[in-house]
Amino acid sequence: MDHVAIVTGAGTGIGRAVAARLAERGSKVIMLGRRRNELEAAAADVQGEVRIHPGDVRCPEDLQSAVHAGDALGGVNLLINNAGIMPIAPASSASLEDWRDTVDVNVTGALNAIHAVLPGMQQRGGGHIVNISSVAGQHPFPSASVYSASKSALDAISEGLRAEFAAGMKHGGPRIRVTSIAPGAVLTDLTSSIRDEETRVGTEAYYEAMDQPLTAADVADAVLFAVEAPNHVCISNLTIRPTAMTR
Ligand SMILES: NC(=O)c1ccc[n+]([C@@H]2O[C@H](COP(=O)([O-])OP(=O)(O)OC[C@H]3O[C@@H](n4cnc5c(N)ncnc54)[C@H](OP(=O)(O)O)[C@@H]3O)[C@@H](O)[C@H]2O)c1
Repeated sequence: MDHVAIVTGAGTGIGRAVAARLAERGSKVIMLGRRRNELEAAAADVQGEVRIHPGDVRCPEDLQSAVHAGDALGGVNLLINNAGIMPIAPASSASLEDWRDTVDVNVTGALNAIHAVLPGMQQRGGGHIVNISSVAGQHPFPSASVYSASKSALDAISEGLRAEFAAGMKHGGPRIRVTSIAPGAVLTDLTSSIRDEETRVGTEAYYEAMDQPLTAADVADAVLFAVEAPNHVCISNLTIRPTAMTR
């Protein structure tokens, strides 16, 4: 693969696994996340070419500087919008700050990244944007209306952009593929962003009781499937669940 990729939230979980798989397959990968120590540990494990790029997806300048780092590698032609938080809580006790943070990171953060990579993709005539959504976007669940809404928004943004770029190709526009990947339960640190203790304990118990939740590597394989499809094939939506997950 000759990709120059930005992976957001690449220090842990799904983003870390995706960055590692992309780099193993020959992509040059810029790993973005807030915690430098997690990025360094993740990068040290990778066989391949990676650069760590500490940054916050809520900050447009951090995405711009990641794109500039990618310019030096040939130009970013793959964005994996993976950074996300899930500070869920019952609406009766949820903090407005958690609701805002959820939208700021999961939606505005993804938009900041898309806005930063688009000019280069347009100029070079193509690219691929992969947004990590969630089954929660398709089936909102109690205590998670805002998290679920953030993922529905990401699905709508993905499909709208996909259709727009497809229509633009008729007029000589760039060939930009857009993919939304919706995982079900994946064993990662995501539950650590739940500040409401009862909700966190309940959510962790749900994951533990499940017969084999997905691993981050399972989701990375799904991402690779979409990324490595021939250029005329756009995997627009892909839902991946543990076999034992009922919803
Ligand atoms: N685990 C699941 O069951 C599941 C299911 C469906 C979808 N997902 C989605 O998968 C994605 C990855 O989550 P995960 O399960 O792998 O959990 P995770 O290990 O907690 O990964 C989330 C990553 O996002 C980064 N991040 C959070 N806020 C950020 C910000 N403001 N700027 C930059 N990076 C930020 C975190 O790093 P820093 O804190 O260092 O910034 C972290 O590396 C999320 O979008 C999540 O919604 C997960």
